Amino acid sequence: MNTSKTKDKYQIAVIPGDGIGREVMEATIHVLDALDIYFDYVYGEAGDECLEKTGTALPEETLEIIRNADACLFGAAGESAADVIVKIRQEMKMFANLRPIKSYPNTNSLFDNIDFMIVRENTEGLYIAGEESYTDEGAVARRIITRDAEKRIIDYAFRYARENNKTKVTGVHKANVLKKSDGLFREIFYEVAKDYPDIATEDFYVDATAMYLITQPESFEVIVTTNLFGDILSDEGAGLVGGLGLIPSANIGEDGALFEPVHGSAPDIAGQGKANPIAMMLSAIMMLRYLGENEAGDKFEKAILKLLNDANTLTGDLGGSASTMEVAGEVINNLNGD
Ligand code: NAI
Ligand code: MG
Repeated sequence: MNTSKTKDKYQIAVIPGDGIGREVMEATIHVLDALDIYFDYVYGEAGDECLEKTGTALPEETLEIIRNADACLFGAAGESAADVIVKIRQEMKMFANLRPIKSYPNTNSLFDNIDFMIVRENTEGLYIAGEESYTDEGAVARRIITRDAEKRIIDYAFRYARENNKTKVTGVHKANVLKKSDGLFREIFYEVAKDYPDIATEDFYVDATAMYLITQPESFEVIVTTNLFGDILSDEGAGLVGGLGLIPSANIGEDGALFEPVHGSAPDIAGQGKANPIAMMLSAIMMLRYLGENEAGDKFEKAILKLLNDANTLTGDLGGSASTMEVAGEVINNLNGD
């Protein structure tokens, strides 16, 4: 067996956070250490415990660690999550939120042939602080669509498709009603598509898409959409494939990227070694692919697939009784071809 680590060395910011964030992070690092890649981990603090200890949920030092790293792995924060993760996304200008929706065996997935990526615009739309206010009549929120931001996210989606052997990108909007803002989104979608003649395109209204996700989820490969629609459709996608313990995500910016499970700190099971580490591990796999380490990413994912297929070493949420670290141990066994 050749265990010499020959590849480039990556600096990874590691922010375990609170509760099960720490447990799933430990398990994931354990598996990363078994790969043939050098990682230089720099740990940063953030979250509720950090707030209690230092008076801030996201110290400047932690942001600096993220800025200096090639990529960041984030576990989960507790009650302070909004102050931590939303702030990191803004500070690092992470414009793309990626949520892969994929069915795995021996899970609560409603279908067994789902595999698509939701690429959500993360910086504008209806979610800009300061664009919501009270009026005499009630309240109003402005929805902002800029050419630059939409072009950037749509281009990202097409590039993602090309680099990941996907054949089609679906643009999702509501241009029949929001004729100007979403009309512009649709226009830019087809403009960008011209640069990717190898990728097929289609566009749907968001309400129709919500239905198609139930009636023909297998037909989607990459969905690109604005902020709020992406938020809603990605939770629908999570529901389709079942279980928070299995859903990873990525936040990508021009200067950095952060990979995190979609779940939170799960105080109800924290400290008991019961957390399913697979969402965190799948997030780490997204990081490997982001770094261009596709071979390692494929190998890691295959090891998880084998674990799910064998169904001998599953955590409680998947009907098993294995501990978080037992799952990590079994994934490592699978990596080594046992
Ligand atoms: P949660 O995701 O922490 O837990 C929801 C339910 O799913 C719980 O019953 C939990 O035990 C279960 N669960 C979640 N992840 C699991 C895993 N890996 N394995 C097995 N079971 C798992 O969401 P909840 O309860 O709404 O929030 C708990 C705390 O987490 C709150 O303080 C919230 O603010 C924070 N949170 C943080 C997020 C982040 O850091 N990005 C995201 C969501 C919530
Ligand atoms: Mg959401």
